Amino acid sequence: MTPDAGTFKHAMRHVPTGVTVVTTLKDGEPRGITVNAFSSVSAEPPTLLICVNREARSYLFIAASGLFCVNVLAGEQRHLAEHFSGKVRERQFEGIEYAIDATGAPVLAGGIAHFDCRLEEEHHSGSHSIMIGRVLSCAARAGSPLGYFNGGFHDFGIHVD
Ligand SMILES: Cc1cc2nc3c(=O)[nH]c(=O)nc-3n(C[C@H](O)[C@H](O)[C@H](O)COP(=O)(O)O)c2cc1C
Repeated sequence: MTPDAGTFKHAMRHVPTGVTVVTTLKDGEPRGITVNAFSSVSAEPPTLLICVNREARSYLFIAASGLFCVNVLAGEQRHLAEHFSGKVRERQFEGIEYAIDATGAPVLAGGIAHFDCRLEEEHHSGSHSIMIGRVLSCAARAGSPLGYFNGGFHDFGIHVD
């Protein structure tokens, strides 16, 4: 016996997470997708995972380029979470400030941390792919994270230095 999808989603809505925008660069075109299925995997070597729906346009960009950068959003960046979960097809980065680090994928200005990765492994599981990245470079800055809980964005009222 396993729970149906509705029961599973209902329980998952009770799990608080941060919010990231995973960016990539394929053939000179930057691309981003809002992702909260993100976790550290190992510190030695530094690896992390993201889970991406294989039907997402961004999935093809990440799988083809073999690189991605996880940008952890600050509380005041809710507009970016909404922008990168929308259905923007062209010029997705128009008006968005970013730099680059090791891979060339966009590092969004104002995030509280970023992890720039080379895609090392991919495992299919249901509709999604678990994409494991080797961290080539990362950095953090002081601030408050954007939180996600029960289907909505929240300020968890916490701050890191
Ligand atoms: C808070 C939040 C978290 C999300 N987390 C994920 C995720 O972990 N994996 C995923 O594949 N999609 C996730 N999504 C959905 C994608 O951002 C959304 O489907 C996006 O439109 C895909 O865009 P694309 O098809 O242009 O790549 C999330 C959306 C929101 C608002």
